[in-house]
Amino acid sequence: MPAIVIVGAQWGDEGKGKVTDYLAREADTVVRYQGGNNAGHTIVVGGSTYRFHLIPSGMLHRDKTCVLGNGVVIDPEELLAELDALAAQKVDTSRLIVSSQAHYILPTHQVLDRQAEARKGAAKIGTTGRGIGPAYQDKVNRCGIRLSDPAHPERLRQKLAAHLEEHRADLAGCDWTLDRLLAHLTAAHGRLRPYIGDASMVVNDVLDRGGRVLFEGAQGTLLDIDHGTYPFVTSSSPTAGGACLGAGIGPTRIDRVVGVAKAYATRVGSGPFPTELATDPVGAKLRERGKEFGTTTGRPRRCGWLDLVALRYAVRVNGITQLAITKLDVLDEFESLQVATAYKVNGTLTREFPTAIEDLEVAEPVYETLPGWRASCSAAKTWSDLPAEATAYVARLEDYLRVPVALLSIGAERSATFSRLALWEPL
Ligand code: GDP
Ligand code: IMO
Ligand code: MG
Repeated sequence: MPAIVIVGAQWGDEGKGKVTDYLAREADTVVRYQGGNNAGHTIVVGGSTYRFHLIPSGMLHRDKTCVLGNGVVIDPEELLAELDALAAQKVDTSRLIVSSQAHYILPTHQVLDRQAEARKGAAKIGTTGRGIGPAYQDKVNRCGIRLSDPAHPERLRQKLAAHLEEHRADLAGCDWTLDRLLAHLTAAHGRLRPYIGDASMVVNDVLDRGGRVLFEGAQGTLLDIDHGTYPFVTSSSPTAGGACLGAGIGPTRIDRVVGVAKAYATRVGSGPFPTELATDPVGAKLRERGKEFGTTTGRPRRCGWLDLVALRYAVRVNGITQLAITKLDVLDEFESLQVATAYKVNGTLTREFPTAIEDLEVAEPVYETLPGWRASCSAAKTWSDLPAEATAYVARLEDYLRVPVALLSIGAERSATFSRLALWEPL
């Protein structure tokens, strides 16, 4: 099974980093295909915590090539800071390849991100403020700066001048002059140059030779620009199709799509979240037990019960073939658990996730109650050690979604993972 795509099946922070690190042991190459340093992927090994924002979560394995595809947007200073932080943790990052077709996030994009949010007032998206949206906006508007551009200094100067001109009104009060922007980008680019290459060629070569490639999505299905809860979404395509566009591979290359979901639900930023427990103490208990504070911004995450309606939608739009369920241990101390199996939308019962935000905003979850286990999942060494109610909870998910759970995570540590199916092998 040469190519597996890992996607977030909810609103991000599902544990994609941990799952990528786990599956990367048997991969040759790990590729990030979209997003930027709005992502925060955490891996815990032997008590040491590693935080990845841009660099693929396969980097802890010494022999893996890690690729940032053309679909990623790159803040050069942040990428350099991440390389330095990993070097300080004694992680060898020399096997990184960054697509020359990826776009740079400029400091001005961050200014524009903050301004757009301020303008929206109460209707703000709650972005990470990293300049992600404005960088993708320039890309689609055909006035972005690619990593190949600094190789042509005179053209780069013209492109940066055009960028400043394009956003002249919004950038009027800011002190990013053309010369300053040029110096900033040129300096950072100089250090990144050794990593820049033809990422699509590298990835396709590995696949042509029968190697194994893992595609690591950032964010999640419900934050996807097309399939998410628009407009409260990010500006890229985290869903599985994004792997083709963002890495330069054809859809025929993909063998498997693994959806990562928490055993409950969280969301950061604004936007509808039908099973949210905003005022219910259960929400606060999930936040506390799950340590639900953002890796990137430190913001408290909104918490709620597992939403099977939304997950079934994620299975559909990604073509998810297997699931990885994380943070089952966070549910250890509940008498009973609820899972949403339908919504009531304006009086009508439905199992379909509404595509119009107006319907989603008024969707009332219809819950099924399942028994809790009030025992420690994390003490389990094998699948059969798990409390019977915990395995029944997972079985209910599989039954509703008609997708097998291949991986189960019961703690932040790399070792706190059960594999139920050998994902790199034909099943
Ligand atoms: P990602 O963005 O999808 O990679 O997820 P994040 O790293 O932002 O958030 C997941 C958080 O949960 C991290 O702090 C992980 O270390 C932690 N985590 C992952 N899996 C588990 C698990 O099974 N149990 C617990 N308790 N924590 C987990
Ligand atoms: P990982 O990869 C959770 C959210 C932001 C905001 C919206 C748009 O760690 O799962 P943006 O800065 O992208 O324009 O913000 O998307 N968001 C995330 N939420 N996990 C993430 O990444 C996220 N990346 C962006 O909170 O609501
Ligand atoms: Mg995260």
